[in-house]
Amino acid sequence: MPYVVTEPCINCKHTDCVEVCPVDCFYQGPNFLVIHPDECIDCNACVPVCPVEAIYADDELPEKWAHYAQWNTYLAEQWSQIGYNLTEKLDPLPDAEEWKSKEKSEQDIMTWDSEKTE
Ligand code: SF4
Ligand code: F3S
Repeated sequence: MPYVVTEPCINCKHTDCVEVCPVDCFYQGPNFLVIHPDECIDCNACVPVCPVEAIYADDELPEKWAHYAQWNTYLAEQWSQIGYNLTEKLDPLPDAEEWKSKEKSEQDIMTWDSEKTE
């Protein structure tokens, strides 16, 4: 029962979740984070610290965000291969407050899908 990052994270990336994860299983894209389902130990520590309530156990996912389980699996694989494991908290994205209340969808997810650029 891995945990899953869902839509509210997009364009926010507060990363409080990263700070509390005991197994460093978060991977980041430019404007979204995902959890690697094979690495998550289901401890629940990340759920209460996310300011936008983006994280759910996969058997408690709201129906409208059920497909984010597949996004986490797919993107964690992509981003782990290019070294985008995130282990420390970062500043939120500059427009995080504004995006908190905006409409968004998985089409807004940006990705690094080739070489590491940093
Ligand atoms: Fe990390 Fe625990 Fe959250 Fe899984 S449930 S991502 S192990 S903090
Ligand atoms: Fe995203 Fe919430 Fe973590 S906004 S980066 S899931 S703390």
